[in-house]
Amino acid sequence: MLSSLTLAVLLLLATSSAHAIHQPCLCSALPSGGLTVNCSTLNLMELPSLPSDTTELYVEDNLLTTVTPGQFDRVVSLKKVSLSGNPFHCDCRIQYLRNWLLKNRAIVLKEPVCVSPSSVAQKAITELSDDYFSSCVLASCTDVAYNTLLGVTLCCVLVLLLWSYRLARRSTFTLYIDKRHAGFQADSLRSMKPKHRRRPHTELSQVSVDYDSLSYTDDLQRPLINMELRPQVMDVLHKKHDKRIKAT
Ligand SMILES: *[C@@H]1O[C@H](CO)[C@@H](O)[C@H](O)[C@H]1NC(C)=O
Repeated sequence: MLSSLTLAVLLLLATSSAHAIHQPCLCSALPSGGLTVNCSTLNLMELPSLPSDTTELYVEDNLLTTVTPGQFDRVVSLKKVSLSGNPFHCDCRIQYLRNWLLKNRAIVLKEPVCVSPSSVAQKAITELSDDYFSSCVLASCTDVAYNTLLGVTLCCVLVLLLWSYRLARRSTFTLYIDKRHAGFQADSLRSMKPKHRRRPHTELSQVSVDYDSLSYTDDLQRPLINMELRPQVMDVLHKKHDKRIKAT
């Protein structure tokens, strides 16, 4: 009973420690000033974050399926990299590693290959074409950041435009029409009259002359500041100049 309990506790400890603690990568300073990071054959599922002064990196024969986008961006002084012997899964997430490998062919010791999916099994990651990634929407982190920035800027400009448009529409221009301008408006109104009505006595029969001239004279004598004029002025201003008039 006691021995089986001890065994259970030992098993539990063993499994939890196996999950929690990874053997650390071996780091050693090079005489030339760089840093060697040796993570080979440690059953790593993902690449640990690397010191920025790493010059040699050995990660062969682990269980890596991908490399997090941007992982190598900080590590700019790499001279030797070994990534072979990992079961890389070549979906959209492998695009970062593929692009990085293409740019850094000279320092990669042995071509890492895809293990899955089956369509590209045993194919070198660098041989994956641009077409292969054409369905991947988010190309890379920098592209996403750039597009986001562009989108936000465009939105700001649009909001500003809408705001100024609303401001412009809301503002009301008040037009005061007073008696001093009545004569001018009467003239302009007169010119709008059809020509044949201006000289009725020359064109129409004698019988109707009196009536027409009378009614037309009546027209001209009327104070022209009133209801007939304002809608026209307001209409023109509103349609042609987009100004609203508050008649007083
Ligand atoms: C990395 O470490 C392993 C043992 O942990 C060793 O066998 C291998 O030679 C080392 N590689 C390098 C390049 O130092």
